[in-house]
Amino acid sequence: MYNSRISGLGYYVPDNVVTNDELSKMMDTSDEWIQERTGIKERRWISENSTDTTASMGVKAAKIAIERAGITKDDIDFIVFATLSPDYYFPGPGVQVQHALDIKTVGAIDIRNQCSGFVYGLSVADNFIKTGMYKNVLVIGSELHSRGLDKTTRGRGVSVIFGDGAGAAVLTREENPKKGILSTHLHSQGEHAEELVVTAPGMGLRWVTDILKDNNPDDESYFPYMNGQFVFKNAVVRFSEVIMEGLQKNNFGPQDIDMLIPHQANLRISQFVQKKFGLSDDQVYNNITKYGNTTAASIPIALTEAWENGKIKEGDTVVLAAFGSGFTWGSVIIKW
Ligand code: ACO
Repeated sequence: MYNSRISGLGYYVPDNVVTNDELSKMMDTSDEWIQERTGIKERRWISENSTDTTASMGVKAAKIAIERAGITKDDIDFIVFATLSPDYYFPGPGVQVQHALDIKTVGAIDIRNQCSGFVYGLSVADNFIKTGMYKNVLVIGSELHSRGLDKTTRGRGVSVIFGDGAGAAVLTREENPKKGILSTHLHSQGEHAEELVVTAPGMGLRWVTDILKDNNPDDESYFPYMNGQFVFKNAVVRFSEVIMEGLQKNNFGPQDIDMLIPHQANLRISQFVQKKFGLSDDQVYNNITKYGNTTAASIPIALTEAWENGKIKEGDTVVLAAFGSGFTWGSVIIKW
């Protein structure tokens, strides 16, 4: 039985900054409304003629993570790719990464799980390493939201929140049982699947031929629907529960947290959790103000930034926590 530790981190965000004021030219919204409700000031959306895709952004982040891990692409034993915005309906982007990085024909798996995707991905990778099956696993979270949003007033409740970007981590076998990923905790509650959903191009509700036949500007099935307040209320409860579950499993209390990286869903959710656990500003990392909600990419981007800024050091207890569509939620407890 081994542990896994994060040996390398990287992220990539497109250069194109879209401010709240720019959004207010596309739809009936305002900088004041967006900042007050979400904390977001700006996000990155790929520019119109950009060649960035979910897979290619993931590749950019992965290259940095692999280099920082001190390994080469030939040392990667397995690829885990989390996204809700794949380039293709199938295959998923895991295989695109294998090809783009010219990694030998290792396994590649794709994970949905939306905002919890990276936490689920880490758990999968960690367990492959714990059993001794693999030594180095590449985990990527990447999202290209901006091409799939309704940027009219009709979609303003969702489109102002999401941003594009990618983050990646290399997980490496760790012999010391007290170091690295100590535990992961995953949950789901499918009764709320329709509270935050894109119904197309799923075939469960309609024949795809009918979708094509009906396709018109009024068709909202390709755009995200979110019951915002319901999601918010569930998020604050589940975030708190799953952080506590992870802490208790390791005989820690909230005071033992050196750095909490919450999924960047809404600054108000992070602040609620921070207050509930009595954490200081130095114990929680937030960057939603500049990137918005990048779903599966938000934790690896924030974790990489926190690490780059020297906010995480050897021996720290780092907690990752996510909640999102599904509903799905989870946490990861790490001894750095
Ligand atoms: N600009 C201006 N007005 C707006 C906007 C906007 N961008 N969006 C909605 N409004 C209006 C609504 O139409 C509504 O107007 P009405 O009262 O006249 O009907 C009013 O503002 C309030 O709308 P609500 O949706 O109730 O606003 P709320 O306070 O709930 O904030 C928000 C919305 C920010 C989305 C919040 O509910 C939230 O953050 N929810 C949780 C999001 C989350 O955690 N998602 C999970 C992760 S995402 C994933 O997994 C894919």
